[in-house]
This record gives sequence, structure tokens and C-alpha cells, in this order.
Amino acid sequence: PLKSIAKLATIASILAASFNVFAEPVEIKFSHVVAENTPKGQMALKFKELIEQRLPGEYVVNVFPNSQLFGDNNELAALLLNDVQFVAPSLSKFERYTKKLQIFDLPFLFEDMAAVDRFQQSDSGQKLLNSMNRKGVVGLGYLHNGMKQFSANNPLMLPKDANGKKFRIMASDVIAAQFDAVGAIPVKKPFSEVFTLLQTRAIDGQENTWSNTYSMKFYEVQSHITESNHGVLDYMVVTSNTFWKGLPADKRAVFKSSLDEAIALGNKIAAEKDNEDKQAILDSKRSELVTLSPEDRQQWVNAMKPVWAKFEDQIGKDMIDAAQAANT
Ligand code: LMR
Repeated sequence: PLKSIAKLATIASILAASFNVFAEPVEIKFSHVVAENTPKGQMALKFKELIEQRLPGEYVVNVFPNSQLFGDNNELAALLLNDVQFVAPSLSKFERYTKKLQIFDLPFLFEDMAAVDRFQQSDSGQKLLNSMNRKGVVGLGYLHNGMKQFSANNPLMLPKDANGKKFRIMASDVIAAQFDAVGAIPVKKPFSEVFTLLQTRAIDGQENTWSNTYSMKFYEVQSHITESNHGVLDYMVVTSNTFWKGLPADKRAVFKSSLDEAIALGNKIAAEKDNEDKQAILDSKRSELVTLSPEDRQQWVNAMKPVWAKFEDQIGKDMIDAAQAANT
């Protein structure tokens, strides 16, 4: 009888292995740096819901918000080590992997989010999803947040108001050049540190979307927000080549379609939040809105637009032309 029990056990384990019946679901990690109640936070949760619904028992997706698992300084390295399978850094944070995405940081390039969207969906924009393939990073899609506004502890009406002030920036040389252009001092810092830096006055200001300024409470520690719409803060959802190619083709298709759906929801939330979170900030009366006249805004354009020429070689003139064409 012992022999036959052993035989049964062997058969059972072969069956289990081949049909995956007793196997635990595979854990997929999605890490990001923002709050849950943001376009990216909601997109990630939708992705989790769809995968677990469509591939039940096969995969669980665990989402780690607020830089809990990985932050700006290590999430892409962690992705390449397969310690996390999905991240969605802002387009400003890929500089070590490609210079091409710097296009999204050029100040005053896109007129509005509709133009950003047109460019991202164009052939040129779609090509950029593959710009890090050789580094092992696979771009799966763009996700919107919104246009950036300046905030500070003084009203920024004209470029000279930024002179000598310290601004927290994402790790982007283009954004550094943008602040250099108005005599400000850019300081590269991870997102998780921004609130404390502003609160303790270690830095004077920052730039971000309405959604991030609201969800991270930056408006509570900044006296003024200038509605500048001077640049875009969007994301690329990325995975590693190792993980992506390791998925069976049929599962990969489910991952991709689920992600596309989650991104569509995230984009809808981004558009809504842009207005809602701005209104919530204004209603709080914690910081004052600075609105720029067309003439004053033009001064910021004149001061910052020379940055384009500095990065034209790295980004490619054809790309810049394609992006500008999306404005019309
Ligand atoms: C920032 O660092 O300000 C943003 O990239 C955070 C984010 O992911 O929206």
C-alpha cells in the first residue's frame, strides 16, 4: 500500500504541476509614488481588479502606493531586477534610460492636454514607447495627469519673482534648465520628500499638477500657486523585458488589454481631477491663485523657451516638430 500511495502522490504532483491546480497565484507587484486617490492610483487599482477578474487564481496584483515599496530613486532599478513588475514614473524620470522622453519636459511646448494626447497617440509618440527597449524597459502605454503649475511662498507673477528661489524638481536636466533660465535654483528631490521640504522651508517652491498639489497637501505649505500650465506631467506605464517576454502569449494579451482599459479610466479621472482638485484647493483658501495675463505669461515663455535649443540634439528636431504639429 505504501508503494501505491507514493505512486498516487507522484501522479498528483505531476498533475498539479501540469494543470497548476494546487499552485498559488503568481504575485505581481505594481509600485508607485502617489496617493491612491489620483489618476495613477486609481489606474493601478483598476488594473488589479481586471487582472484578478480575468485570470482568477492565476495572478494577484498587489499595488503599493505612496513610495511604500519603491520611490523615485529606485523603482526603475527594482523593475529591472524583477523586484516589481509594473511601475509608471512620470515621463521626466526616465533620463538615465533614454534622452528621447525629455521632449515632454520642454517648457511651453504643448498648448493643452488634448495636444499632449494627440502627440502621444501619433506615430512619433508611439515610437517613444520603445525608446528604452535596449535597456530592458518596455513601454506599455501613456497615462495622463495634467499640466503643471508653479507654487511658491511668494506670488510668481513674472520670471524675476523666481530669481534666487529654490525649487524642488523631478530628476530631469530639462526641468533644471527651465529653472536656471529664470535665475532660480533647481533641487532634484524624490516626490516623497517634497511636502517636508516645503513645510520646513528648505525649499521655496515646486511645480506640479493640481492633482498632486492637492493629494500631497502642498497647497497647505505654499502661499501661492501660479496657474502657468507651462508643461506636462504624464506617465509611461512600463514593465521589464524579462517579465513581459516571460508571460505566456495569451496571458500577455490579457495583461495588455486590461492595462489599456485601466489607462482609459485613469485618463478620465485625470481630466476630472484637474478641475476638481484645483477647485478644492481654491475652496480651502490655504493658498492664493495667481492668474497670469497673456503679456505676463509671454515673459515666462520668452525666458524659458531657449531651453529647447539646448536639448534639440538629444531629443531630435523631427520629434519637436511632430510635437508642435499636435498643437493645431
Ligand atoms: C513628481 O515627482 O512630482 C511626480 O512625478 C509624482 C507623480 O508620480 O505624479
